[in-house]
Amino acid sequence: MRLTFFLSLLSLSFALPNTSRAAPDDVVISFWIKSFIPLSVAGVTKPYPKYKSLSMLPGIPIFGDCFLTDQRGFSSATGASSRMHSQAWVWVRSNGYDWSDEHHCGETTEVDCEDGDVEGKETQNNDNMKFKEKSGNSSKVVLELKAAANNPRVTGSPNIDIVGTLTLDRLNRFVEFNGKVDEFPAFEAYVSINGGKAQTIGQLGPKAGAGPSSLAGGANRAFKGTVTF
Ligand SMILES: *[C@@H]1O[C@H](CO)[C@@H](O)[C@H](O)[C@H]1NC(C)=O
Repeated sequence: MRLTFFLSLLSLSFALPNTSRAAPDDVVISFWIKSFIPLSVAGVTKPYPKYKSLSMLPGIPIFGDCFLTDQRGFSSATGASSRMHSQAWVWVRSNGYDWSDEHHCGETTEVDCEDGDVEGKETQNNDNMKFKEKSGNSSKVVLELKAAANNPRVTGSPNIDIVGTLTLDRLNRFVEFNGKVDEFPAFEAYVSINGGKAQTIGQLGPKAGAGPSSLAGGANRAFKGTVTF
């Protein structure tokens, strides 16, 4: 009787999830989130007249021209073409923590909607893209992201907006991003833990029926994901 009880306890302890494992002394993550315009968005993108395998999308009506898309689907490559890219490196260890960040926009190519002639190329700045520290100690670091950028070729055009909270919890062994994004275009976030391969935090395509005009206003779609280690 006693032996059976002991054995069942033993098997229970082996069946317990990650939480029973000791926290690692040291965790370093690279987290990145991108907004990008997919190759194909129903009702929004059109073939680029010069190369039919590429696509473009008309800007907001009355502003005239078209713009090349990022010509891709979801990708965990850090260098994948994007409209906005925000990245943070966070290091939490038993005696402290550190973090740094980097933000940039992809080049915008404006083309004529009829013949595809390139009218100009410009890259928006990263003035309104930042991580800020909310809290940090040897067990947990919490950063807040606010990122907004518009089309540099169209003065006054609405921003793509991303807001959210990035948490690296060394003791409870997880990385989480909990935020909001616009209805357009597509958004994706990944994390690499201790130099490992990219793991998906979230991937979200454009909301059905949404296009550049849907960018007006702030981020209003939930975008959340967690990766454990
Ligand atoms: C670390 O900060 C969190 C708040 O983010 C707090 O709950 C926790 O007690 C702190 N831990 C230590 C060891 O200071």
